[in-house]
Amino acid sequence: MNALQLDTVLLSKDRSCLEILDQTLLPGTIKVLHVSKIEDIWEAIKLLRVRGAPAIGVCAGYAIALTASRIETADSAVFCEEFMKQKTYLASSRPTAVNLFWALDRMEKTMRANLDKPVPEIKEILFAEAQNIRDEDVAISRSIGEIGFGLLKHGDGILTHCNAGTLATAKYGTATAPMYIAQEHGWTDFRVYCDETRPLLQGARLTAFELHNAGIDTTLICDNMASIMMKSGKINIVFVGCDRVTRNGDAANKIGTSGVAILAKHYGIPFYVCAPSSTIDMSLETGDQIPIEERAAEEVTEMWYKERMAPEGVKVFNPAFDVTDHSLITGIITEKGLCQAPYDKAFEALGIGK
Ligand code: MRU
Repeated sequence: MNALQLDTVLLSKDRSCLEILDQTLLPGTIKVLHVSKIEDIWEAIKLLRVRGAPAIGVCAGYAIALTASRIETADSAVFCEEFMKQKTYLASSRPTAVNLFWALDRMEKTMRANLDKPVPEIKEILFAEAQNIRDEDVAISRSIGEIGFGLLKHGDGILTHCNAGTLATAKYGTATAPMYIAQEHGWTDFRVYCDETRPLLQGARLTAFELHNAGIDTTLICDNMASIMMKSGKINIVFVGCDRVTRNGDAANKIGTSGVAILAKHYGIPFYVCAPSSTIDMSLETGDQIPIEERAAEEVTEMWYKERMAPEGVKVFNPAFDVTDHSLITGIITEKGLCQAPYDKAFEALGIGK
């Protein structure tokens, strides 16, 4: 089974529900959920059944198209009002990945641009726009992959953190896209090291799963092993994904990413952030402004253990993301090109944020 053939989220053919691959069950079980109610879609995002910034954006686009299609009115003002309620609700599912808000804003813009049309027509336009978001995501990830592939050398050891893979997008992933493109070019002499990525193990459960199944030379390491791997010369380049990048190039990604970047700087290893332009939030100046999601204590104390592994009542701090300072980043690979400091100028030069 090649993970590239797995769809993270689709609209069902009869447009009655979303088909969401339940990533909380991977790698042991491949199960597609048929999710119809807006509350269940919200829950699927919140509980990381569908996760990864671009996939959350694709899911949000389909979700609002689906739920808006059920608004029973012929009055476009009433339609608009109900749409906005649904949008606000879906936007409350997770705070950090900007793709959620980006996709919902894009859907709102499409809705408003067509409010002069009959409501049934607006509904069709929204379905089409959601599909565009998904189709564009495949092309965007592929472009990031091609640019990232250009940075690889034969024999490289590549480190990645969390899952910025095909499971986090519509296809190819962002950080994994250069690996899939290298494979397409027939390269067999590169190795990938996946941080397991505590506390939710997206590196172990998802990245190791998808790369290993695709036949890529994959080694799983614990998060605290990255330093020894770098020191021993096994890592030549780091590719990570991101959930939100600010104007100055600070990048929020899964907790632990900034530590990897600090290590890479120490050992002189290039550290690249792979970011669709939809992940670049030009409305924020620096990473200090990015809202960081905090999650349940149980994810740290007991979720993956046969029995609880921390004393009852102990305090737990469980932020899901951290921000890597732009000074630690060698370059940000977008689908439009490779950006280097000063990042605000580089993003503007590529028309990002226009
Ligand atoms: O909490 P998650 O699993 O949604 O976090 C995912 C990450 O941090 C990814 O690295 C990021 O979204 C980039 S996905 C291409």
